[in-house]
Amino acid sequence: MRMLAAVLATAIILPAIAPAVAFAGPLEDRQAIMKGNGRDTKLGGDMLKGVTPFDAAVANKILANYVAAAKAFPGRFPAGSNGGDTEASPAIWSKPAEWRAATTKFQTDTIAAAATKVSTQPEFGKAFGMVTANCKSCHEGFRIKKD
Ligand code: HEC
Repeated sequence: MRMLAAVLATAIILPAIAPAVAFAGPLEDRQAIMKGNGRDTKLGGDMLKGVTPFDAAVANKILANYVAAAKAFPGRFPAGSNGGDTEASPAIWSKPAEWRAATTKFQTDTIAAAATKVSTQPEFGKAFGMVTANCKSCHEGFRIKKD
């Protein structure tokens, strides 16, 4: 009986603690997503400058990564996650309509860019430009760079 009770207790407790293990926290999560954006953008820029040879498969993977990032990012700013070692601007929470517009635009533009399925360097340049205009405009309004 005691054994069964222990098993039941474990079964009940586990789902409650599992997310805490898999989920590092919204701040770490969103910074990890943005670091991925940074790496992809460096690689994409290098392919466009000819520093790294153009590879269509890699280019399309970068565009697909942007879509995933744009979808995952907006959910990582719950109320109360504006403290700690963050570069997130208070405007994210004080101007929710503008923030929603910026994150929605990022999603729309990344999806459109990825849908072009690039095969040449100039095509990638166009799609890449569509996406990276968002980095600049959103950072101007919603990121306070610390360094
Ligand atoms: C819709 C808004 C938005 C868009 C679009 C956006 N960013 Fe960001 N980015 C942020 C915010 C907000 C932070 C600060 C997150 C924090 O520290 O809590 C950030 C942080 C970063 C960081 C620092 C991550 C760290 O903690 O080390 C990098 C690098 C970065 N972004 C790159 C990019 C690139 C590259 C793109 C475009 C492909 C991009 N971002 C698009 C809002 C955005």
